[in-house]
Amino acid sequence: MGILKTLILTDNEVGSLLSMEEVIEAVEQAFKEKGLGHVQMPPKPYLFFERYSGDLRVMPSYLKRMDIAAVKVVNSHPKNPSSYSLPTVIATVILIDPKNGAAIAIMGGAHLTAMRTGAAGGIAAKHLARRDSKVVGLVGAGVQARTQVSALLTVYGKLEEVRVCDKVEEARNKFIAETGPQYGHLSDLIPVESVEKAVDGADIVVTTTPSKQPIVMDEWISEGTHLNCIGADAPAKEELDPAIMKRAKIVVDDWEQASHCGEIGVPLAKGIIKKEDIWGSIGEIVAGLKEGRSSRQEITVFTSTGLAIQDAVTANLAYEKARAGNIGRTIELT
Ligand SMILES: NC(=O)c1ccc[n+]([C@@H]2O[C@H](COP(=O)([O-])OP(=O)(O)OC[C@H]3O[C@@H](n4cnc5c(N)ncnc54)[C@H](O)[C@@H]3O)[C@@H](O)[C@H]2O)c1
Repeated sequence: MGILKTLILTDNEVGSLLSMEEVIEAVEQAFKEKGLGHVQMPPKPYLFFERYSGDLRVMPSYLKRMDIAAVKVVNSHPKNPSSYSLPTVIATVILIDPKNGAAIAIMGGAHLTAMRTGAAGGIAAKHLARRDSKVVGLVGAGVQARTQVSALLTVYGKLEEVRVCDKVEEARNKFIAETGPQYGHLSDLIPVESVEKAVDGADIVVTTTPSKQPIVMDEWISEGTHLNCIGADAPAKEELDPAIMKRAKIVVDDWEQASHCGEIGVPLAKGIIKKEDIWGSIGEIVAGLKEGRSSRQEITVFTSTGLAIQDAVTANLAYEKARAGNIGRTIELT
């Protein structure tokens, strides 16, 4: 029997290895591979921990042409920050060698999740938002909101204004205090008291809350707006007034996942929208099979449920950089 060494990387190590620019490039490639039909990615199954208001998902994937495979185990427990001083989302990623099934790396996946989710938002904006977008409205100012802004800054180079709202004032203020110095090319990071003030007249709206009822109302959304809906990633979650969907070009990350647990899940179940109302997937747009934004007036909605292939390519990127930089430690699991 040969010796099998598995590389172990902590969340902090993974964080120090990843740059948003590289993650965007990797995730865009993964979306393209999916659009062209070269990935295996069954929809994620869930466990629901009702008594703890949390859930857990398992996310396997294989990008065939890139020969990258991984499995992520990830939760969403919105009470974690207040109850345990832990993040809402904690994750572990196992990177698998497709040729023998061995675990080549095991890594903390919280930072990785935030980076690849931010990247998805940035890529969606690149293809769906107006190129002259300057004003961003953030609804929810937690962990995901931070990487959503850094991805938008990476894609746009600079933004004029980011308005920040959160139902918890302390979360909003913390966001501004912590992120302000990082966002060098951002002229104005503005705290606002209401969702309406954040989104009214914004070019890009980003929702990152675990809400189970609409919090962004139709009358606040003007023509030409792009919305990145990130928070709804499990059944029954929704952040947008479904009337927005009736006016919008809707793009999913994956139909199977989005129809059950994305921003379109509830409006589909209620019959407010139908499958025919969905324009396509971000993978089809990235691969050039479908058009992205087609006019200045169009309202565009990207519903992100989070894809296992995003995790796999991001974990692979961290693994390669760790190997090159001699970061982490190995153990013999087998
Ligand atoms: N689409 C994806 O790929 C993806 C990836 C990771 C997380 N998520 C989801 O995104 C959501 C946020 O995750 P996070 O890690 O940023 O959590 P977080 O707890 O760090 O941040 C969420 C923030 O939203 C705020 N909030 C809650 N309800 C609100 C409301 N009604 N109005 C305004 N603000 C409100 C909270 O106070 C909190 O500050 C969760 O639902 C999570 O499951 C999605």
